[in-house]
Amino acid sequence: MCGIVGIVGRRSVAAQVTEALQRLEYRGYDSAGIATLENGRLERRRAEGKLVNLQLKLLQSPLSGAIGIGHTRWATHGRPNETNAHPHATERLAVVHNGIIENFRQLKAELQAHGIRFDTETDTEVVAQAVSYAMAQGLGPVEAVAATLPRLRGAFALGFLFAGESDLLIGARHGAPLAIGFGEGETYLGSDALALAPFTDAITYLEEGDWAILTREGAEIRDITGEVVTRPRQIIAAQSYRVDKGNHRYFMAKEIHEQPEVVGRTLAHYVDLAEDCVVLPVALPFDFAKLSRLTITACGTAYYAGLIAKYWFEKLARIPVEIDVASEARYREAPLDKDGVTLVISQSGETADTLASMRYAKAQGQHTIGIVNVATSTIAREASALLPTLAGVEIGVASTKAFSCQLTVLLCLAIAAGRARGTLSVVDERRLVDALITVPGLMAEALRQEQEIEQLAREIAKAKNVLYLGRGTAYPMALEGALKLKEISYIHAEGYAAGELKHGPIALIDETVPVIMIAPHDAVFEKTVSNMQEVAARGGRIILVTDAKAMALTEMETMATLTMPDLEPTIAPIVYAIPLQLLAYHTAVVMGKDVDQPRNLAKSVTVE
Ligand code: M6R
Repeated sequence: MCGIVGIVGRRSVAAQVTEALQRLEYRGYDSAGIATLENGRLERRRAEGKLVNLQLKLLQSPLSGAIGIGHTRWATHGRPNETNAHPHATERLAVVHNGIIENFRQLKAELQAHGIRFDTETDTEVVAQAVSYAMAQGLGPVEAVAATLPRLRGAFALGFLFAGESDLLIGARHGAPLAIGFGEGETYLGSDALALAPFTDAITYLEEGDWAILTREGAEIRDITGEVVTRPRQIIAAQSYRVDKGNHRYFMAKEIHEQPEVVGRTLAHYVDLAEDCVVLPVALPFDFAKLSRLTITACGTAYYAGLIAKYWFEKLARIPVEIDVASEARYREAPLDKDGVTLVISQSGETADTLASMRYAKAQGQHTIGIVNVATSTIAREASALLPTLAGVEIGVASTKAFSCQLTVLLCLAIAAGRARGTLSVVDERRLVDALITVPGLMAEALRQEQEIEQLAREIAKAKNVLYLGRGTAYPMALEGALKLKEISYIHAEGYAAGELKHGPIALIDETVPVIMIAPHDAVFEKTVSNMQEVAARGGRIILVTDAKAMALTEMETMATLTMPDLEPTIAPIVYAIPLQLLAYHTAVVMGKDVDQPRNLAKSVTVE
């Protein structure tokens, strides 16, 4: 995850910017850079590798400007070298960026048609050139940014510095976090409050779609429509800098909102964004083409991620998948082929049952692939190969961002398997990768349903039982949605395959039971609609989660509808995770439950 820093200061800011960048090192990076204004002219220093390399450059060739931006880059588009390091600049401006600009190719082609030359392999340069081009057409810096932001698609945060503007920085948030800090005659921009801790404890977090004009006097914040808005300023207590909740009440809320960013980061680790193909970060110790089946083992939410992956592996790679919860797998004495493969999925990498079933698979002579969030954990260390999920530290007991990152890695792996087995054409791989690249932006769009979900949660909070139904990959999503709700709100919730309804669960349906239908517009959508009709006919209260087009096709009365963006159905589970998580979260908040530490539960289950 890249880190952004900006300072409109009173004296030379280079040392402060690098100090703030140091505090963002935990996010991971492979190059760093800084730009300041020297007598109104933009000057940059950038270096590959660790911050110390940048600091050495600054020693050799210091910068003295009192306004500047800095960046630590985690390479997505293009190699981690100095040319691709941020800030990217034109004669008019410099920009730092976190996230992915999905439509950079299209924008680049447009700008190239105007004769603009590009020097880097990055998507970020397109932002610098687009704003610069708008300025060349006569717009001022603020107007040029205002004209450019609506043209950018994806999930990102940006910081701008302009030549000749010694009292102006602009920051923008669209799917990746950005905070503003207020000092004495100085104003700051940072990826999080932690970066700004040495300078100020007065912080305002930008909300989704906000952008801000920073001067020494303070900041004017505008929302996505360009209206000037007021956002709360908070004083961050010194001790909360370590594990910062941002402007969220609970870690779970923060982690739900971080998903566009961490999924983008995970994607960048598994996908060559320039070539539109999956590139695994490690060489696997086996050949997918030679496997006759795949075994998956995990617990809880990680198990549901595995269940979704079963659909992907079977469809895209035509490989049979056997999956079991680890507490059963470890004692089932299942025969496993020597030289076969077991996928082990775990956020913590310490779950006792998952670890034991991995060791069982190893003892049978299997290769084990750990899909793990904590890279130093036991499962990560003992697996034959590690495919990390780059969700960052997950604190809320209810797993959210680790789940969506697990799905991201699993879909990439299924694509790689399909390619190796010759069951997925280059064209189909490209189509799926193109769809995957849109996921962070679609997740940011799904997050915009939060207010409606909050309203709906007030109704759900009154229920004693809730049913979740879905078909295809929406079936494990139903299981996951129900798990999220029960673990933090303590409302009894069950997930079922929608087609199973008439084999028993339909007996539960009456007007007191909300039924959440997860129905992406996929190949089984019509069948799901039939199941919805069965529910409606029995007075069930339907909450439909689908996209606008599919919604129009249902013509059914619902208690509520949650509109998801249009998407390629394969990626639906990653995006549809958001409304299910938000619904569980807001229901628990309405009910006054301890969202981050629900009763009887532990984050890491290291006992049987
Ligand atoms: O750390 P792990 O992913 O191995 O944990 C597995 C489960 O304990 C975990 O997913 C649990 O179900 C969560 N509370 C779900 O939100």
